[in-house]
Amino acid sequence: MIRSRIAGIGMYVPSHVVTNQDLKKYMDTSDEWIQERTGIQERRYAHRTQETTTTMAVEAARVAIERAGTTPQDIDFIVFATLSPDYYFPGCGVLVQRAMKMKEIGALDVRNQCSGFLYALSVADQFIRTGTYKNILVIGSEKHSFGLDFSTRGRNVSVIFGDGAGAVVLQPTEDPGRGILSTHLHSDGESAEILAMYNPGTHANHWKEETYASFDDAEIGQMFFSHKMIDDGQVFPYMDGPAVFKKAVVKFPEVIMEALHANNLAPSDIRMLIPHQANLRISQFVQHQLRLSDDQVHNNIQKYGNTTAASVPIALCEAWEAGKIKEGDLVCLAAFGSGFTWASALLRW
Ligand code: ACO
Repeated sequence: MIRSRIAGIGMYVPSHVVTNQDLKKYMDTSDEWIQERTGIQERRYAHRTQETTTTMAVEAARVAIERAGTTPQDIDFIVFATLSPDYYFPGCGVLVQRAMKMKEIGALDVRNQCSGFLYALSVADQFIRTGTYKNILVIGSEKHSFGLDFSTRGRNVSVIFGDGAGAVVLQPTEDPGRGILSTHLHSDGESAEILAMYNPGTHANHWKEETYASFDDAEIGQMFFSHKMIDDGQVFPYMDGPAVFKKAVVKFPEVIMEALHANNLAPSDIRMLIPHQANLRISQFVQHQLRLSDDQVHNNIQKYGNTTAASVPIALCEAWEAGKIKEGDLVCLAAFGSGFTWASALLRW
């Protein structure tokens, strides 16, 4: 039986550290509020002009590819997860293909926000299992710092996010004791608008029809991007934080248990849980629910904030580099975020 395994992993975070204290320059906030509610002490921001979602991804990918003992020319498929792409279109996958001088391989972009990396991993896993590809580069990368509302209006969102990238190379293995055991994907679009960036987009505020109902056809073209959207702050992410929190603390444990049940395993079998770094309080709640010890969970939101699609591969890479994950260990990856979407993956390292 062919399974996929993580043959190489890499991460990249920009060198520019932004502390909670630094954010006070732009908005009414405090180190105490941010640490108490989220656990975040600092985050990284990409270089304004020299670093993009793609350049950070390439840095992480180089390390993952080298550690997998392969070369960019041997990669036969790219799956790229991000919500902060360099361009609205084309996606970042093709930019990685170009930057790394890869062959004319397929490049797929995934848009599942905080669950993006796990969705990307699950797609890559299927391609490996079916024998279609043998060296898949899976990336999660975000440059949030370019699209946040740094005024007090946006403080509940902007203090949370940070920039960075993580990447893995998936390869096939026939070793029954290794590899991705299963992946589990879910969504509930009922609450799509409570954690979203509305514009630019083609929704034309149909869910708020009274706002733009009087527009004629000629004005429709401007609906994609207008001064009003900027004035109303609709070009920045919107989040009803408490509502997201309530759902996350239910769905995180649920999807982890689903993965364990599917493999006849229990929480005590987990050597390392890598939760998406949304909020330290959410991770602690999940840890408590599953009765996991501190050394069974890796958190790094304190240093990097929420890096959305990059958070799981960054945390996984860091935990592995720190020697917290060894060959044969059971590792559980789990994420919840905008959509809502949530997901888990269980693997033997
Ligand atoms: N500094 C100071 N005060 C603030 C800040 C800030 N940065 N942000 C909000 N406040 C204020 C609010 O204005 C509010 O003030 P009021 O009571 O006078 O009205 C008060 O703090 C409480 O606001 P809440 O939003 O209720 O704060 P909460 O305790 O819920 O914490 C947080 C907010 C941290 C966002 C939390 O709700 C959370 O983490 N939610 C989940 C986030 C998450 O998991 N997101 C998913 C991933 S993101 C993705 O998928 C793209």
